[in-house]
Order: sequence, then C-alpha cells, then structure tokens
Amino acid sequence: MDIWSFKKEGFIADDIVKNGNIFLTGNGYMGYRGTMDEWGRHEMAAVNLAGVYDQNGDNWREPVNAPNALFAQISVNGEIITLGKTGHQKHSQTVNFQKGLHIRDSVFEAVHIKSERFISMAEPHLLASCLTLSFDKDCEVELLTGIVTDIWDINGPHLFDYEYEKGDIIRAQAITGEKKIPVAVTQSVTCDFPHNEKQEVINYGIYRRIDFNADSETVYKINIISTVYTGLDTADPGEAAMSLCKIATADGYGKNLEAHVEAWAEIWKNSEVRLEGDDEAARALNASLYHLHSISPRHSKASSIPARGLSGQTYKGAIFWDTEIFLFPVFAHTEPELAKTLLRYRIETLPGALAKAAEYGYRGAFYAWESQEGGVEGCTNFNVVDVFTGRPVRTYFRDKQIHISGDIAYAMWRYYEITGDTSLFFEDAAEVILQCARFFLSRSHSRLDMDKVELLDVIGPDEYHERVNNNVFTNQIAAHCFACALELKDVLSQADPNFFDYLITKLEFENDLELIKAALPKLRPVFDETKIIEQFDGYFGLEDCSLEDVRGRLLDEREYWGCNHGVAATTQIIKQADVVAMMALFPSLFSDKQVELNWNYYEPRTEHGSSLSACMHALTACRFGRPDLAWEHFIKSATIDLTGGGKHWAGKIYIGGTHPAANGGAWLIAVLGFAGLSVKNGEVTVSPRLPPQITSLRFPVIANGKKYRITVTRDDFEIL
Ligand code: BGC
Repeated sequence: MDIWSFKKEGFIADDIVKNGNIFLTGNGYMGYRGTMDEWGRHEMAAVNLAGVYDQNGDNWREPVNAPNALFAQISVNGEIITLGKTGHQKHSQTVNFQKGLHIRDSVFEAVHIKSERFISMAEPHLLASCLTLSFDKDCEVELLTGIVTDIWDINGPHLFDYEYEKGDIIRAQAITGEKKIPVAVTQSVTCDFPHNEKQEVINYGIYRRIDFNADSETVYKINIISTVYTGLDTADPGEAAMSLCKIATADGYGKNLEAHVEAWAEIWKNSEVRLEGDDEAARALNASLYHLHSISPRHSKASSIPARGLSGQTYKGAIFWDTEIFLFPVFAHTEPELAKTLLRYRIETLPGALAKAAEYGYRGAFYAWESQEGGVEGCTNFNVVDVFTGRPVRTYFRDKQIHISGDIAYAMWRYYEITGDTSLFFEDAAEVILQCARFFLSRSHSRLDMDKVELLDVIGPDEYHERVNNNVFTNQIAAHCFACALELKDVLSQADPNFFDYLITKLEFENDLELIKAALPKLRPVFDETKIIEQFDGYFGLEDCSLEDVRGRLLDEREYWGCNHGVAATTQIIKQADVVAMMALFPSLFSDKQVELNWNYYEPRTEHGSSLSACMHALTACRFGRPDLAWEHFIKSATIDLTGGGKHWAGKIYIGGTHPAANGGAWLIAVLGFAGLSVKNGEVTVSPRLPPQITSLRFPVIANGKKYRITVTRDDFEIL
C-alpha cells in the first residue's frame, strides 16, 4: 500500500461533496476543494480564502471564495465533456500527501483527461494545474478556461463590481460587499502546440476559448498558472497578482512545481510521524498531517486555522478552541514559529475579546466562541435550526461557553512550557493571560456560606447541557488561568525585572491580582481520588440511560441533541469529552487510577458527536495503560478526512468539511499518547504505550529550540 497517497477509483455522484473535502489541496492562504477541472458552483468547486470574511445582508458572515482560475472544460467535436454528465470508461482521483498534489485521471470515449493540481506551498499566492489530453481519433477540440466568477457560496454572493482585463495574462478583480476588500485573480495558459485563442467577458467571468485540431498521435499539455491577492495582502492586489503571474509563467509550471514539492519536503522533515506495523493507520496519519499542513498559515505572522480548515464556508470560517487545544500543541512541538503565529492571532484579537466581555457587562477578555477577523464574534444567538419547525433555535454557545478564554490562556502558557521561550509574553501574551483572568474574576460568584467561588450558568465542552453551574472543566481551566496570571511575575522577571510591574500598573491590575490570589483556592476544583467527578452540579441527578435509548428517541436523524428540547439535555448522555478532556489537559492532577475510573464512567455516556472527542479519550486511555482502547479512537480521529466521516448536519445547518481538530488529534494520540512524549521545562521524556498494531514510531520534536529525533519500539526507545 502507498501510505503517501489516497486514490478513489470510479465516480459516485453522491460523493462529490465528500470528495471535495477528502481531496482538498491548500497552502494556508487558500484551499482548493477536490473537484474536477470542469466543475463549478453546483459541485461546490471553491478557492476558499483564509481570513477574508464578508457578510451579505443578514446572512451569516463567512469567508470569501475567490474566482476559480483553474477551471478547464474540454469539448470534443462540439460535445462538452463533464464528469458526471458525460459517460466515462474509467475515472480515478488521487491526493498525494507527500507532494501536496491533486491528480485526476478520466477516460471518456472522446478524450483521456489527466490533470495535476497544486496550491503552492512555496508561494502562498500561486496555484497551478497541468492538463494532459490524448485522443483516440482526429478531432476538433475546444478548451474553455478562464477565471470563473460564478462561484459556490453558502451565504453569498460576496464579490461585486467585477473588472476584467484581457491579454496573455487575464485578470478578474472585484470587491467584497461589506468591507470593500479588493480580490484579484489572474490566469496564464501555456499550450505547447498550435492553437487559436479567443477571449471573452461574459456574465460569469472572463474566458479563453482555445481551439485546436487534435490527432491520436500527440499528447497535448496545457499549463494553467493563477495567482490570488486581496486588499488584506497589499494596497494594489491587481498589480501584485499580475506581476507574480508574469514571473511564475516565465519560470514555467515545472519550476513552480519543484519549489512546491521542496517546500512540502521541508514540512515533512519537521513533522513526519513514521508509524510501522499498520499501513492503513500510517496512511491515515499521513493524511491527517497533510490536511493540517495544507491549512496552516505559514504566510502570516498572526493568523489562525478555522474549525473546518479551508474546505469551504461551513462553521463561518471561524476559529474555535479547536486551534489552541488540538492544533497548537502539534506545532508547539514541531514548528514553534507556526505555534506562535496561531497565538499571535489571539493577541491581535484581544480588543475583540475585551469588547465582547464589555458587551455582556464583564471586565477582561471574553474571546469569541467563533472568532473571525479582528476577534469579531461569528457565533449568533441562533446557531441551530429546528428540523421540525424550520425555526432558528436560541443557543447559548456564544454567551456561555466561557472556557474559550481559559483555553487560550492555557495554550499561551503551554507555549512557554514546551519551547522555554518567554518572548511571546512580552509580545502581549502576558496581557492576554491577565485579561482572561480578569474576565473569569468578573464572571465568578462568591458563595459566602460555603467559602467557595463558582462559575454559574455556563456551557462546558459538552454542548448538549446548556447553562449549567460549575462545569468542572470550565472551573479547572479558569483556575489554571488564575494560576498562570499569578506565576507570570516570576517568569517575566527572569527576562525583565520590571515588565510585570509595568503591566500591572498599565492595566490597573493591582487589586485584581489580590482578588485572584484569594479566589484561586476557592475556585479550583478538589478531586477525590476514589470518586467519579461530577461534570457539573446536578449531573448525577439526570436520567442515567444508554446512548442507544437516547438515539432511539430521535424522530429525525438530523435533530439536534442539545438545547431545550434536545433528546440528550435531560440525560447523562454527553456530546463529547468533558471531564475526560480536563484529565487529558491536566495529566499531573490525576492518578492513572482516577483517570481510568472516570473514563469508564463517561466513555459509555459519550455520543462522540464531535470529532474532538476521540482524541481526548485516546490520550487518557493511553494514560491508564490501555492503548488497545485508545486504538479505536485513534483510527476514528485519523481516518475522518479519508472516509469523509464526521457529522454533516447540526439541525438543518450543513456543517461538513475537513476536521482539523481530529487531524491534529491524530498526531497528539500518536506522539503524546502512544509514544508518551512529555516536554516540561525543556526536558524531553517518553513513556511508550504502543498498541499491539504498532511496532514502532519515529518522529522529530523541538523543545527549547533543540531538535530531537525520537524512536519508540515495542520494548525500547531512543531520544537523539
Ligand atoms: C463542538 C465544539 C467545536 C466545534 C468546532 C462543535 O460541534 O462541540 O467543541 O469547537 O464543533 O469544531
């Protein structure tokens, strides 16, 4: 088996959407769905742009899809050839993880179309494809290509006032509706055979009609190069796109491809986890990392990764806690610069978090649950549509999922613990931690009769139970945030003895610091080694029934399980790891026995309705010496974007796409779970717990700026 690629033979119309995700190519700046060259909006072809958002009317704000300049449609003797409409003899679609390539190979009666596509990892603004056409008989061929502006949108359109430019390099430029951000796309086409070209501008873009007489002896190669710039990159994106396209066209497809493949090779050098013993699993792990790298913002100093990556506009292209908890640790251990980029996004969006806290009448930083550019909250008050009535349902993710601020502070602190680098604290990460702590302080209640501090009316990671009191995950992450705020003084003083005091004065934090000191021991949950931890106040009093019981109560498979009337809300059935997630994030607070006790209680009560759940269960199962139990969760996490798994609906809302958190989760399970890697204060240790399927794991890590190569086998390990 080739563990570096995934190939699907044949064509099934119902798989078009799924395949768009499985075969995605991207470079962090943009993602191109795994669609055929000749497809358009109906097949959800899309060039999804990272970080460019737009709102059309009252619709949800979502990221913008750029016009598609890799569109290429072949007609033979006047017959348009389209996979899905034209009968075909053979068809396959492949994604090559090692080189970041999308390959299609379709044999129709009239023509054999092969194409290779890449979104350059070496040049963020560049994408290209190479079509190879061959024919059985002499025929007249027309290639219709150009820049298609009739693009797939969920809540669009988002691009207006198109301007077009004809020439060797053609260009389409438009502006977004809300913020008037210019988006420019260019295209050049190189054919190494005699042909005629006509250009035209019609409603749906600027096109080239390339005609030629084909014979059965010749293989016809067509190279398409495209560039994309927006007003967020430069003042004159049209000019920037044009000049890059000129250079890239002069260099030729081959040279650009070479640079792209080299950039991927460098990425794999720093991140490959070589898993031996099970090729299916090895391929799934490669696929997971491929997807993760394809959407990582290497082009930026301060950006993050949306919960559905760059696979489209689902989840509003927003950044969730997924990034800090499931993706950030991968990069903190392998590519700290990228980890920093992700955290800087939160530093830059601090003003948005301060504004959100103020909106709810709190102080400090309450980060957006679904964060868009500048920290704008993308989460609405009605995030689910009732399948029966078609009415929007009031959900409380936006208002009550306050653990988000603690998750962010947690990641800021982990960055320091893993890399030993304090510089980010001076770039305002320290301020983020203090402002998050201040938020929890102002959000907490003092229970005078019990000498306790509580967080009331919250939603924990388990979203099926809304508006609960003292969700233990939330209390623990908030207490940790308090502890980090208090520890900052010592850590900062090592580099600059005055900085902490300066910050405290600047933020007028003196009094808050005292309050935090007093509140911490009263908020921090106390865990009894022998008892199962109650997820929130009153959880044990809820109906204790089986997952099957609850599933059996559904009247519609797309019904939402949470909210007021949700089938899970009055039961102990939970959506995803909650207590278990806390145990995974704070391993030193729990003994192996305690983890096992709680895992055994909560796992059967967990629907795993979120792709985030498997990873936490696998990590904790490794912890208490049951990698065999972890295996199933590992496979689930690692294969999600190979099989096109995961939920596709939340009520009536489409939520399909790729699953970055599960992709990152696969790495976390392999490295932190099975190999048992731990990095604390620059010290790297492993405590292997390989499941029977794995004979060895090899991977690189970076800790405190030093590179290590780690090998773990069934009965030995090596840290070099
Ligand atoms: C999960 C959240 C997650 C979000 C984005 C939801 O279904 O419950 O925890 O952050 O999806 O992945």
